[in-house]
Amino acid sequence: MNETKVDWEVRRYEVGEVEGIPLTKIICDKWDKIWAFQAKPDDLLISTYAKAGTTWIQEIVDMIQHDGDLEKCKRASTYERHPFIEWVFHENSPTGLDLAEAMPSPRTLKTHLPVQLVPPSFWEQNCKIIYVARNAKDNVVSYYHFHRMNQIMPEPGTWEEFFEKYVTGKVLWGSWYDHVKGWWDAKDNHRILYLFFEDIKENPRREIQKVLQFLGKHLEKEVLDKIIHHTQFEVMRRNPMANYTFLPPEILDHSISPFMRKGTVGDWKNYFTVAQNERFDEEYKQKMAGTSLTFRMEL
Ligand code: A3P
Repeated sequence: MNETKVDWEVRRYEVGEVEGIPLTKIICDKWDKIWAFQAKPDDLLISTYAKAGTTWIQEIVDMIQHDGDLEKCKRASTYERHPFIEWVFHENSPTGLDLAEAMPSPRTLKTHLPVQLVPPSFWEQNCKIIYVARNAKDNVVSYYHFHRMNQIMPEPGTWEEFFEKYVTGKVLWGSWYDHVKGWWDAKDNHRILYLFFEDIKENPRREIQKVLQFLGKHLEKEVLDKIIHHTQFEVMRRNPMANYTFLPPEILDHSISPFMRKGTVGDWKNYFTVAQNERFDEEYKQKMAGTSLTFRMEL
């Protein structure tokens, strides 16, 4: 959707549920079609919990697929290059499914769905999937600001109110805990590369090399250097095809909070009160008990 105007009334979405997972009502209404989506064996799926670094890994993958050709990566916005399979802006605009179906193969697709809601054809076709996870504390801060600036997301309320909704899993796409754990378990039985935001931040070269290997690609050092440069926060922030200024300002109001906000690890320290942090750590311990999955909350 690269038009600057929207011809429908912009208002915050109502929330529904699919199998207990909060999704926008408009997605719930189209759920049968989304579930029946036909993946193809050469589809690559990028999966994340919202605000975990989706746009970042999308740009990295696109640069890899186009051998570092910047012009090719600027051919269209993030939203158009990688159809967001479950997304529906409005009855009158093409859905993520429409964009995916219109796209020639090989396709790279995006989802925020928890693993149990991924359309079964992705498993049947044994598609490759790249999952990026981000530590819960930075994730909630980023998600809060995104709700403020995105005029179609449900009303976030105050930071305290949003924090409560997040820890109880009452936000769109559901519980962060279940999401990251569900995908972590799935990686043992499927072709899933599981990456961490914090690792990419710490050492993009190392993590991009993992992506290259997973995709079966080899690139010369100069190309890899170019990809590392182009996908840095400061560079992506200025890229109109990746910084979400391509969506109309009625939807994303960057003057409230830019989509490319800070891109750091540990910003949660500027938001969590001592009491919130204690509450969070307690809950975290219980919810993450029994998993081998660990996160770094600072670098
Ligand atoms: P912050 O709000 O903490 O800044 P998503 O793409 O999943 O919606 O995630 C958006 C988050 O990823 C935002 O986090 C954004 O700034 C961050 N991000 C996007 N591109 C980045 C990059 N190249 N380097 C670091 N962070 C990036």
